Amino acid sequence: MRPILVAGNWKMNGTLAETRTLLEELLQRLDRTQDTGHKTPDTKRPVEIVVCPPFTALSEAAGRLKGKPVALGAQDLHWEAGGAFTGEISAGMLKELGCTHVILGHSERRHLLMEPNGWIRKKLGAALAAGLTGILCVGETLAERENDQTWAVIEKQLSAGLDNLTPTADRLLIAYEPVWAIGTGKTATPEQAQAVHRQIREWLAERFDPKFADRARILYGGSVKADNAETLLNQPDIDGALVGGASLKAKEFAAIIAAAPKQKEGTCCTESS
Ligand code: 13P
Repeated sequence: MRPILVAGNWKMNGTLAETRTLLEELLQRLDRTQDTGHKTPDTKRPVEIVVCPPFTALSEAAGRLKGKPVALGAQDLHWEAGGAFTGEISAGMLKELGCTHVILGHSERRHLLMEPNGWIRKKLGAALAAGLTGILCVGETLAERENDQTWAVIEKQLSAGLDNLTPTADRLLIAYEPVWAIGTGKTATPEQAQAVHRQIREWLAERFDPKFADRARILYGGSVKADNAETLLNQPDIDGALVGGASLKAKEFAAIIAAAPKQKEGTCCTESS
């Protein structure tokens, strides 16, 4: 059974003081929610939690999260191990700070900073080589969806991003984030999201093998909130959420996490994981 994973992408938010307050409140809420972060008796489906603060707050967050059931992720890295790359941060530096995950190819980087697929592939390669779990973001713009290019765009992002890479299924997370649903309050309908997630899983089966595809987790991102999380997470091929704005509110993020274990058992997964 694939464990659910809920990750919070804080983006460029979180002073040190805000990081302390947010994580303190989140941890208190998780403590109060029986079984959160662990198997629930009714579903036996585990939930993993990751928070991805900005680089400047990683150290503070790592201190707060020590021994807690919340993993730490970064929002980007550079593929080189070190050297003359002003402003950049390597996989090794992130590991040193306690990161286990890293978001790569987020649409805000693809579209606002013109980050090309080739870079994302190099970043993912460096992340995997360092033992980090890569969260590879893919997704179409509204114009691409309206021109029936959704799958063509995603297929290109997947094949270029994973070119010549052979990750294990537990080290790769794909996040489907339709660009038109990010920060807009517009969510893909559960059916729209499920259809793309299914296609991604079929692509993974083809590109790797069916067992890999069965184990790999595909997250949905784009205006995920407490009130829509449960229906999204109930889709058979949606294995978690990459949450932006709502992850900055402890109550809302905890409610999204709490929505995950309500999924029915045995709807989507094989015994292999
Ligand atoms: P919002 O949840 O704010 O729409 O952001 C989604 C996102 O970009 C997560 O990476």
